[in-house]
Amino acid sequence: MANIFSISTMNYLCFSILASILCSFVAAQDGYATENGGVTGGAGGTTTTVSSLAAFETAILQNEPTVVYLSGPLELDDRLSVSSDTSIIGVGSKAIITGGGLRIDDASNVVVQNLVINKVVGDDAISVQESTNVWIDHNEFYSDTDHGFDYYDGQVDITHGCDYVTVSYNYFHDHYKCSLVGADPDNADEDTGKFHITYHHNYFQNIHTRTPAARYAHIHSYNNLFEDIVSQGIHMRSEAEALIEANVFVNSVEPLSTYGFVIPDDSPADPEGDYEDDGFANLGADNDFGSGEINITQTGTFTSVPYNYTLTPLDEVQALVQAHAGVGKI
Ligand SMILES: *[C@@H]1O[C@H](CO)[C@@H](O)[C@H](O)[C@H]1NC(C)=O
Ligand SMILES: *[C@@H]1O[C@H](CO)[C@@H](O)[C@H](O)[C@H]1NC(C)=O
Repeated sequence: MANIFSISTMNYLCFSILASILCSFVAAQDGYATENGGVTGGAGGTTTTVSSLAAFETAILQNEPTVVYLSGPLELDDRLSVSSDTSIIGVGSKAIITGGGLRIDDASNVVVQNLVINKVVGDDAISVQESTNVWIDHNEFYSDTDHGFDYYDGQVDITHGCDYVTVSYNYFHDHYKCSLVGADPDNADEDTGKFHITYHHNYFQNIHTRTPAARYAHIHSYNNLFEDIVSQGIHMRSEAEALIEANVFVNSVEPLSTYGFVIPDDSPADPEGDYEDDGFANLGADNDFGSGEINITQTGTFTSVPYNYTLTPLDEVQALVQAHAGVGKI
């Protein structure tokens, strides 16, 4: 159900009289988050703009639908919990959260947009657990690679039977372990049949592993830009299945593997690496893997998704993602 909709056509339409309708359509939620009733976040509820930690912490935990605009930087020393029916939206490019992140746990219908989250020591920038219908869009995540594999944890980790998540137009950079789906190969009972997740138009730059690494998942990865993936990019293991299309990899060693071996860079507790069951991957619309090696050991049956989506033509992906991923773009 993919449509090819070229960037030049889009630009033309954005400048035309139909601008507001079509351009907002282009920036709207899509992918798996639109299944199972979709994501509205706090729409229709209270709208509040906050800048202090106390006000932010309270606002994102309201039981009623709430749209929370964060208008300035915050220093955290822990992660903050987010309740259901919440939209968290950064204002401009100033919603910069340092040192802690967000915990979306046992929640549904959550939007996180236009935040910078950086340098979360020993923890994930965003963790999503036991949650459904989550849209993580147009954020920026970074740390540094000066402190070893495990000093920071994941950037967006999705575990414990989550479902219907879209991760779109984010800028992930300068980090070891980017995004893990499924924390444990022994968690098949909770995870099998869940983890329908779409990654599209994200910009992954100078990342070591996990863009994403997944277990028991269905991952639709399209139109992402990967630059300087140091060890391994997309890794499908423990029966995770991926549909991979129209992605661009630049200077990336191993863009895609379904071989169940978890490399030592990804599993630093075990310097020999670990073995799990293999995953699966199908290639849809042509990808550009650059000079990297791909290792698809089995293809499986995941060749289509239930939603409509628009594929950016491969030769326009790099420029479009560089221009539109990250904060200050919506
Ligand atoms: C690719 O997968 C095969 C298993 O099918 C494995 O033997 C081989 O070492 C893998 N190659 C790399 C580079 O990991
Ligand atoms: C996809 O788009 C087609 C054509 O516009 C429409 O007929 C169909 O209902 C859409 N499918 C979904 C799942 O939205």
